[in-house]
Amino acid sequence: MSHTEFVFILNLLLFLRVVAQFRDHEQQQWPVPYRRFDHRPAVDSYCEALYPFCPTGDRDGRIPYMRDTDVISVYRLQTPVWEFKYGDLLGKFHIMHDAIGFSSSETGANYTMEWYELFQLGNCTFPHLRPEVYAPFWCNQGAACFFEGIDDLHWSQNGTLEKIGEITGSQFNEMAQWVQDDNKTGIYYETWTVRSDPSPNTTVWFESYDCSQFVHRTYRKLKELGAKLSSRSQTNYTKIYLYSGEPTYLGNDSAIFGQPGLKNLALDIRSFYHTFRPHQSFKDFVISLLEAFDKIVLDKSFYLYYNFEYWHLPMKPPYLQITYEEVPLP
Ligand SMILES: *[C@@H]1O[C@H](CO)[C@@H](O)[C@H](O)[C@H]1NC(C)=O
Ligand SMILES: *[C@@H]1O[C@H](CO)[C@@H](O)[C@H](O)[C@H]1NC(C)=O
Ligand SMILES: *[C@@H]1O[C@H](CO)[C@@H](O)[C@H](O)[C@H]1NC(C)=O
Ligand SMILES: *[C@@H]1O[C@H](CO)[C@@H](O)[C@H](O)[C@H]1NC(C)=O
Ligand SMILES: *[C@@H]1O[C@H](CO)[C@@H](O)[C@H](O)[C@H]1NC(C)=O
Ligand SMILES: *[C@@H]1O[C@H](CO)[C@@H](O)[C@H](O)[C@H]1NC(C)=O
Ligand SMILES: *[C@@H]1O[C@H](CO)[C@@H](O)[C@H](O)[C@H]1NC(C)=O
Repeated sequence: MSHTEFVFILNLLLFLRVVAQFRDHEQQQWPVPYRRFDHRPAVDSYCEALYPFCPTGDRDGRIPYMRDTDVISVYRLQTPVWEFKYGDLLGKFHIMHDAIGFSSSETGANYTMEWYELFQLGNCTFPHLRPEVYAPFWCNQGAACFFEGIDDLHWSQNGTLEKIGEITGSQFNEMAQWVQDDNKTGIYYETWTVRSDPSPNTTVWFESYDCSQFVHRTYRKLKELGAKLSSRSQTNYTKIYLYSGEPTYLGNDSAIFGQPGLKNLALDIRSFYHTFRPHQSFKDFVISLLEAFDKIVLDKSFYLYYNFEYWHLPMKPPYLQITYEEVPLP
């Protein structure tokens, strides 16, 4: 090999190394950003809602326009997911649903705004294995619902109904525009938060995308618009954690389930999800979670579906936790 050839090959190797590092570096953005879409696709007719989504909301998701000079009160709303009261085992979980309330001082009208699953939580957490479809099939869309009225009793009796601030009509209108954009681009629900360790300041691999995250995003938006929010009590939220070492990217449906070469992986993912079928009730969902726990502890392995792509999680203790922890107002 001549000197020039040697230098050329050396440079090439260096270049490839840089490219590899660059790609590695690109891979290693944690938490993995939640993917935004440019529009919300039509729902597959296979997915069937047990309860209709947003029955009293505007059909086109319109939010009423407030006069710029109006003063709008903002409420923090939280209520337990009541199915949890059945059975001692379920009673100890502190699983809450979160929403935001608004009331106009000019018109006296009030409104509730929340973000939740179109086809219930079980369907957002576990896919369907359909005999005629090779890839697991997900009914995992979530969306924002805005409707007139605040059911004071529903929120205040066993949960929270607290005024946390006031905004102007124009701040409200800007927020409404943001909610509509957020609703069009953030289309699927994600139950799990995946992190490396329960102690504070450890790496978060994936963030959840659920009702409470919507509430936090909205609070941050309101703060950005100049609102001041404050609460007299601790503002705690439910989180469902998985604990794992560094996740490995596997690929999307067509990459995994369309490749004969990846048949073993495809079958392994199918068999993993076979244990956790989506169920009809919330109680069965919790039983599924506990089954998941057993399986995860035995196999130390979890296939996570995020951004419509699969990741492998090398699970580690304490594997799975449901917490009710403080997230301060921004
Ligand atoms: C989940 O999806 C299935 C199939 O679309 C549907 O029958 C069911 O009503 C949905 N909801 C729940 C809670 O399982
Ligand atoms: C959000 O999207 C859903 C699904 O398309 C729709 O039903 C709902 O009205 C929208 N909500 C808002 C506030 O735009
Ligand atoms: C919302 O409006 C209803 C009907 O006027 C009223 O009963 C309720 O107290 C109001 N709630 C809040 C938090 O403003
Ligand atoms: C509050 O909790 C009690 C006791 O569990 C229950 O009977 C009642 O229906 C709950 N209220 C609301 C509004 O959910
Ligand atoms: C976590 O990070 C925050 C901000 O960087 C710091 O104030 C806090 O002390 C850290 N906590 C621990 C337990 O390291
Ligand atoms: C799936 O991933 C491949 C690359 O791995 C990409 O070319 C393809 O567009 C992806 N399909 C979808 C539906 O995103
Ligand atoms: C709320 O969160 C804080 C800190 O995350 C925790 O110490 C406290 O026990 C929680 N409150 C409840 C009622 O669980």
